Amino acid sequence: MAAQQTRILTGDTPTGNLHIGHWVGSVKRRVELQSKHECFFLIANLHAFTTRADRPDEIRRDCIEIARDAIAMGVDPEQAAIFLQTEVPAILELTYLFAMLLPYNRVMRNPTLKDELKVKDLKDNYSFGFPLYTVGQCADILAFRAHGVPVGEDQVPHLELTREVARRFNKMYCGVADKAPDEEHESLGGVFPIPVADVGKVGRLIGTDGVNKMSKSLGNAIHLTDTPKQVKKKIGRIYTGQDSRQPTDKGETDPAKNPLFQYLETFVDDSDQVDEIRRRYAQGDNIGDGEVKMLVADAINTLLDPMRARREQWASDDDVMDVLLDGSRKANEACEETLAMAKDAAKLRFFPRSVQLG
Ligand code: TRP
Repeated sequence: MAAQQTRILTGDTPTGNLHIGHWVGSVKRRVELQSKHECFFLIANLHAFTTRADRPDEIRRDCIEIARDAIAMGVDPEQAAIFLQTEVPAILELTYLFAMLLPYNRVMRNPTLKDELKVKDLKDNYSFGFPLYTVGQCADILAFRAHGVPVGEDQVPHLELTREVARRFNKMYCGVADKAPDEEHESLGGVFPIPVADVGKVGRLIGTDGVNKMSKSLGNAIHLTDTPKQVKKKIGRIYTGQDSRQPTDKGETDPAKNPLFQYLETFVDDSDQVDEIRRRYAQGDNIGDGEVKMLVADAINTLLDPMRARREQWASDDDVMDVLLDGSRKANEACEETLAMAKDAAKLRFFPRSVQLG
């Protein structure tokens, strides 16, 4: 897609403040993409209601916090639109329409959905809206006619569903031929491009417990709001595993078994320095975890310092709300255009309309 700027859409369910696992897993990539593409970053506040419909105050607060943290981490509201799902009615309207194009059993077969129902132990006690969020996610993406969707591995089944809906819509209402290649849907008159998942390779940062994925709820996260001292303390307490110093078959110790090395590789920019430490460590040289931990903690603090400063600058909720208003306006501009096209195609466009916020 060389010269033409492609449109990128991705999003998060607001669940609280961001930590360095979010930075590594998604935000860093967004900061890279924002200068090269037209970017839309969605706050999926309606998705938060799938499991927390009884806690609206908390969800509202999380929306503001996640936006503030994203800006602090380097998402630039001048370059990318950060917006609220519930301020973009076209998304909800398309959700309803797309729900008609998907067999019920197809929705329920989604492995990520099944996994969530299992992990949350919801058995038969989930709302009608719970599985509906996956159809909603198709609309989040297609309402923007996005080409690329940067996501983690766990979101790939949702992208598959999205691609299926887009193909079906284009065939049913736009005359796109049954066997048309995905890349040609738009040029053949389809309303929707068939979006591609852009799966990051870094994925998940291990938590400071040295075992589980970094996550706020497990208490193993380093937050943007942590002080330099707290960062040092948390890194200092990382359990590096008893095995890390046991010789392997080849008589070497294996740094791969030491969670600290993931941090070293992720946060220390100087790869020569990292190689050197790995070599000394493997040879059993006189290098202690303490020395590596200091280095890692300093590197994380160096990364966080400008983010902490930006977070201070954005301390006012009103300023963050202004960003969300501006982003939601931009989102509506894009999505109203798509909705008009989709309604035209499905013979649902009766009258002109516009959405006005603020
Ligand atoms: N389901 C995603 C998550 O929980 C959030 C999300 C909602 C999303 N809508 C999206 C991600 C659209 C990518 C594209 O992480």
